[in-house]
Amino acid sequence: MLGNFKYSNHTKLYFGDNSLAYLHGELEKYGKNVALVYGGGSIKKNGIYDDICKILNDSGKNVAEIGGVMPNPTLAKLREGIKIAREHNADFILAVGGGSVCDYSKALAVSVYCEEDPWEKYFIRFEEPECKIIPVGCVLTMAGTGSEMNAGSVITNQQTKQKIGHVFSDEHIMPRFSILNPLYTMTLPHYQMVSGIYDIFNHICEQYFSGEDDNTSDWIAEGLMRSLIHSSLIANKNPQNYEARSNIMWTATWALNTLIACGKSTDWMVHMLGQAVGGMTNATHGMTLSAVSMAYYRHILPFGVKKFARFAVNVWGVNPDGKTDMQTAGEGLSMMEKWMRELGLVMNISELGVSEDMLKSLTDVTLIMDGGYKKLDRDEITEIFRESL
Ligand code: NZQ
Ligand code: ZN
Repeated sequence: MLGNFKYSNHTKLYFGDNSLAYLHGELEKYGKNVALVYGGGSIKKNGIYDDICKILNDSGKNVAEIGGVMPNPTLAKLREGIKIAREHNADFILAVGGGSVCDYSKALAVSVYCEEDPWEKYFIRFEEPECKIIPVGCVLTMAGTGSEMNAGSVITNQQTKQKIGHVFSDEHIMPRFSILNPLYTMTLPHYQMVSGIYDIFNHICEQYFSGEDDNTSDWIAEGLMRSLIHSSLIANKNPQNYEARSNIMWTATWALNTLIACGKSTDWMVHMLGQAVGGMTNATHGMTLSAVSMAYYRHILPFGVKKFARFAVNVWGVNPDGKTDMQTAGEGLSMMEKWMRELGLVMNISELGVSEDMLKSLTDVTLIMDGGYKKLDRDEITEIFRESL
């Protein structure tokens, strides 16, 4: 553990099939005017909306609704929400939904009282808020992003086709509390469930595939990956298995709540490639990651072969006896690909609507990170996209 870091996390979690019981007590801590943020309607179909409204009502809250937050929430939708929350004098934002709703609520929290343009300030210049931040609480309905316990927010500008995430440093942007009821995730379509599972897995990879030192964060990461692979195979066959779904939900939170980034430089290049695809196609986040992953990891393997060999042995159970590190590492990636195919993930970007003529624009909007095993240049990025077609 050779890196230096600071660690703290402000989010209080309530986990389990009875966790909504704690919402009332949490709401008592905040003002009367609540902005209730939700997505395209799933919470109305599965009854979560009614349960939440009853608790808000019993708590005497004055509620303004901001519904219709779409997957990959847009800047235009953010501007709409800012107006509603401002007029309502919102004291508190309650996010009920998946990562999109949670991310959107955090962006709203730092924008309502912001005097500058939030897109320019937070997503182009990556500045921290100087204005009052409205506290956010979250009732999570989809496991994947980790947004329930981090300070990240990803917003899409449809005009410029840019999808940009900002991980804020200010801990006040993290949800004050998150309610994690695995039962709420049971109504997710299979496509969304497995997309979330791959998002979780890739969050762990993004942090794991960096650095050379012996780091406790990597040992934790391996445990999380093994648990996720185990539970994902159960949930893939039987999505109603509570034990598997609860483990997946818990793993999602720990995969991206800053713990396993401690002491790591972290990679995040799969997310940059995936976000470029997402900005152009509006495809489902986890699928944009799965579609570029194999081409990316095969490309960087030679630069981090020792770590990829360790991944093969410790995560996928590959027997290294009599093999070179290169062979062991390659076998690990093949096992990973087999698992991804078994889950039914999207394995190429053509399926998400990308064609050869879009590769240049995709390359142009891809942000380049340098915390992984190889800092890519523009040609390599185009090549990885081409291999992912
Ligand atoms: O909108 P509704 O009707 O609620 O439907 C949603 C949506 O269509 C549906 N859904 C959610 N919970 C459901 C449900 N359907 C039935 N039953 C339920 N219980 O699922 C669809 C996808 O929801 P969404 O919130 O978009 O998914 P996810 O949680 O994967 O969030 C994706 C967003 O998070 C960002 C992504 O880029 C993307 O914009 N990310 C945020 C991160 C962070 N804050 O740290 C990191 C991630 O890497 C990611 O980039
Ligand atoms: Zn992600």
